[in-house]
Amino acid sequence: MPVISTPQDFNEEELYVDLRSIFGHPLVLKCEGFNFAGSIKLKAATEMVALAERDGVLRPGSILVESSSGNLGVALSMIAASKGYRFRCVTDFRCNLSTRQLMETLGSQVDIITADPDAIGGLLGARLDYVRALCASDDRYVWLNQYTNPGNGMAHYRTTAPAIARQFPRLDVLFVGAGTTGTLMGCARYFWEWHRPVRIVAVDSVGSVTFGGAPGRRSIPGLGTSVRPPLLDDSYVDEVVLVEEADTIRACHRLARRGFLFGGSTGTVVSGATGWLAQHDARELTAVAIAPDLGERYLDTIYQTDWVRDLYGADVLSSDELTAGTLAA
Ligand SMILES: Cc1ncc(COP(=O)(O)O)c(C=O)c1O
Repeated sequence: MPVISTPQDFNEEELYVDLRSIFGHPLVLKCEGFNFAGSIKLKAATEMVALAERDGVLRPGSILVESSSGNLGVALSMIAASKGYRFRCVTDFRCNLSTRQLMETLGSQVDIITADPDAIGGLLGARLDYVRALCASDDRYVWLNQYTNPGNGMAHYRTTAPAIARQFPRLDVLFVGAGTTGTLMGCARYFWEWHRPVRIVAVDSVGSVTFGGAPGRRSIPGLGTSVRPPLLDDSYVDEVVLVEEADTIRACHRLARRGFLFGGSTGTVVSGATGWLAQHDARELTAVAIAPDLGERYLDTIYQTDWVRDLYGADVLSSDELTAGTLAA
């Protein structure tokens, strides 16, 4: 029985969902949303804060500042509240309302950046410029910078990957979504050194420039970037699968119809993974995918009929993929 006194002390590391009966492929989903921050970003946040404290960069009176599409912001809000730091999160319009409210409830300040998403560097570039300007204005600001911080990948090298290795000693393929690529690089580096070869398949959204694709409009937070992530080292990645956001929506709703309410990036990873498995002789393969968060934060977007129709058209969900809420509407 875990009994904790700080919220970051708890994380469910050993929960997996077998997706074979839903998608017809041998795929197991590692669930990372069961902690008080509600996502995998708790791990990166904990590691980066610990490193900054150890190095004396973060000390009493410091103000944490970070660019985040939401989940890292929630994790840092929680840790900052628990440790007595102030935290300022710089995000953009794609941050869900509930995520923003969560951060504010935990005592953080949230700055929403407006910029032309099609401009060079896009919204992410504008967010990073804003953070740099804040840091230049007051030396109490401490920017952990999840895009370059080695603690981001290290967290997964030390926790996520060994946890998968413990449960799946005969792992063949690992599907990992790519945002900052912290999860991807931490897991890829771990399995690179493992006792048997594991195929590392990165899953990203169409419109992301991470793996050299053309920039395009993306509306689902979590995966994809408009600036190539500095943490990425392609030599550790065996394959890249790009997923259209419409397919992300379909996968999310298909899971929801079976009672599993996951976040958007999980839909992307599952869609990419099942597409990959369909194209390979996967019967004997042990395949794991990582689900970064759960679905409640996406009730007003991915699971909301008008939002889905406006962005992806009325036909994106055929009747058997509709969630109960969509049917009622
Ligand atoms: C929901 C969700 N999925 C996936 C990711 C990507 O993880 P990473 O930044 O480790 O690549 C994030 C990162 O913020 C996220 O919030």
